[in-house]
Amino acid sequence: MSITRALIDLDRLVANAGVFREAAPDGMDIMAVVKGDAYGHGAVACSRALVDAGIRWLAVATLEEAAALRENGIDEHILVFAPPLADRLPAYAALNVDITAVSIEVLEAIVAYRPELVERLHVKVDTGMSRLGIQPPDIGRAAAILHSTGYRPRAIWTHLAHSASRPDPRSVDQDRILRTVAADHGLADVPRHILNTGGFVHHKELRRAEDPLARIGIGLYGIALTSAPPADRLQPVMRVLSRVLQVKHVEAGTGVSYDHTWRAPEATRIATIGAGYADGVPRLLSNRGAVGFPGPGTSHPIVGRVCMDMMMVDIGPAPEAATSDIATGDEVVLLGTGGPTAAQVAHWADTISYEICTGLGARVPREYADRAGQ
Ligand SMILES: Cc1ncc(COP(=O)(O)O)c(C=O)c1O
Repeated sequence: MSITRALIDLDRLVANAGVFREAAPDGMDIMAVVKGDAYGHGAVACSRALVDAGIRWLAVATLEEAAALRENGIDEHILVFAPPLADRLPAYAALNVDITAVSIEVLEAIVAYRPELVERLHVKVDTGMSRLGIQPPDIGRAAAILHSTGYRPRAIWTHLAHSASRPDPRSVDQDRILRTVAADHGLADVPRHILNTGGFVHHKELRRAEDPLARIGIGLYGIALTSAPPADRLQPVMRVLSRVLQVKHVEAGTGVSYDHTWRAPEATRIATIGAGYADGVPRLLSNRGAVGFPGPGTSHPIVGRVCMDMMMVDIGPAPEAATSDIATGDEVVLLGTGGPTAAQVAHWADTISYEICTGLGARVPREYADRAGQ
C-alpha cells in the first residue's frame, strides 16, 4: 500500500450530483464535468459512478480525455470543450463525441468535412469570457452556415467569467447576450447551456427549465465555493492521506529542511511525512500549511521547505500521556476530513481549490470506496 494515497468516496460524488439535480428545475439535468482527470479524482471511476447513477452527459477538455473514457466502455454523450483543429476532425467523428464550434473557421471545416456532424455541435458564443467562442457580431454568419446545412446544432452555449464567488450582474448579462443573439439569428429553438457550479448556485433565476443542461464540475467533487444553498449540502469526495516516516527530537535553534528557512524556537519533535510537491503538496505550504493527525485528533504546522517527496511537521515536545503521542507509521491527513479543506490549502498556496485537487500527483494512487466497500 502506497504511503500517500487519495481516498475517493464515490457515494459522495453521486450524492453531490443529486444535490444539483434536485435543485435544478424539471427539464434541466447536469452535464458532469470530468476534465482534468475528474479534477484529480480519476475520470474513469467517477464517470462510471455518475453514469450508473443516471447521468447522461459528460464533459472533458481534450479529445484524449474523451478517448480514455470511450476505451473504458463509457458510451454516454461526451462534449469535448477543446475545439477541433481541422486535421483532428476525423478523430472527433470516430470517437462519437460532441464537438465545440468556436469560430466561423471551425464551422466551415466541419461543414466541409461532414455536414451531418452539425447535429453534434455545441456552438460556443463568447459573451464576455474572451477565451473561446464566436463573438456576437459574427453569429449572423455562423447561423447562415448552420442553416445552409439543414441540420440543427445540438446546443448553443457560453461560459461565465464571474460566477465563482458571488452573484454577479455580469453573469446575468452573459446569459441575456446568449439568448438575444440566438433569438436574433433564428437559433432560439437550439437548446442552451450556460451555468457552471458558481452560476448554478448563485443564480437561481438562471436555472431555467428550458435550458436542458448545466455544466457542473467543482461542486460534484464537494468543493463548495460558497455556503449558499444548495452548496451547503455538498460533501468533499477526496481525502488525501500520508504517513509519518520518522520522528526526531531537535534542540532549540535547529534548522529544518532546505535552506533552513525554519529553526526550532525551542526543543521540539519533528515528524517527517512521506509526501511532497511531487504528490501535489504545493511548495507554497512551506512554513504556512498544516496537516491533521487523526489518531490524537490534532493539527500541526508544516515547517521548513516542502521537498519533492517529503515535508516536515512540528509536532511539539513529547506529551506526558503517551496515548496521544505521534509515532513513525502514523497516518496524516493532508486534505479532507480530519485535515485541512481544499479551500484552506488553496488559501495557504495562494491559489484556488480547483488547482489543489487537480494538482494531486499522478503517482498518488486513487482508492475508491462506496457503500459496497472497496
Ligand atoms: C467551459 C466550462 N464549463 C464548465 C466548467 C465547470 O466549472 P465548475 O467546475 O466551476 O463547475 C468548466 C470548468 O472550468 C469549463 O471550462
